[in-house]
Amino acid sequence: MTYETILTEKRDQVTLITLNRPKSLNALNSQVLDELIDAFSAFQADETQNCAVITGSGDKAFAAGADIKEMYDKSAADFYLEDFFAKWTSHIVKATRKPWIAAVNGFALGGGCELAMMADIIIASDKAKFGQPEIKLGVAPGMGGSQRLTRAVGKAKSMDMCLTGRMMDAEEAERSGLVARVVPHDQLLDEGLKSAATIASMPPMAAQVNKEMVNAAFENNLEQGLVHERRLFQILTATEDKKEGMAAFIEKREGSWKGR
Ligand code: HXC
Repeated sequence: MTYETILTEKRDQVTLITLNRPKSLNALNSQVLDELIDAFSAFQADETQNCAVITGSGDKAFAAGADIKEMYDKSAADFYLEDFFAKWTSHIVKATRKPWIAAVNGFALGGGCELAMMADIIIASDKAKFGQPEIKLGVAPGMGGSQRLTRAVGKAKSMDMCLTGRMMDAEEAERSGLVARVVPHDQLLDEGLKSAATIASMPPMAAQVNKEMVNAAFENNLEQGLVHERRLFQILTATEDKKEGMAAFIEKREGSWKGR
């Protein structure tokens, strides 16, 4: 597939995906979604790639939301039949079992904030701004914002954001637990790629299992989550990488991974 709205690049074991509609502040239209689904699916299928980073082109925005100009003429039936919003979760979040990082370089609003929250880790530039301003358009979050934001920052902040449509700056986002780290704007991509390279250097199956375990905390009660964790842990103890990882520790050398 030839991409027109995103750029992709492989840097060793890390895939960099850049939203590339800077004139529209990287607004997420259906073409962006189709191209992202293709890019994430290629990343997941490529055995040389262990971690991905998604960021926005231009200095201003990660993504300023779903494309308002595209949504303007759509009817409720169009939204229902197309099921645009469902595909973000089914075709990107659930289908991508490898870890990926959102490097948020500016506005992450509406669908842009929701896309960032789909990532496993958010690293924010000190210029990043997060918000769910859909209420001002007469609608509400449609790609997971009311659920993922509430889980990330709690009811008080989530209600405040969704009901007033106000933006949260990077410092508040870090304090509230929405982002893992804030870095100086000009170091964002380097820091995002560095973190991704660290994750990519880990035993790849263990990385996917760690991701699955943490995500299970949002799906299960504690008892189920602990059982799920133990079973996955037990499966990992049967891998060649477990033998290699422990041998490497004992022999004081770096491990070399088979991914199984
Ligand atoms: C389409 C967008 C856009 C968007 C910005 N643009 N956001 N186009 N969809 N979400 C376009 C503008 O129309 C403009 O194009 C260009 O990008 C630059 O934007 P400006 O507004 O001129 O820039 P600025 O004044 O700096 O303001 C930046 C901004 C503002 C604060 C981020 O653009 C903004 O408020 N954008 C909308 C944010 C939003 O409401 N997002 C949620 C969308 S709904 P032109 O051609 O005019 O120069 C959503 C989920 C919906 O995401 C789910 C339920 C249905």
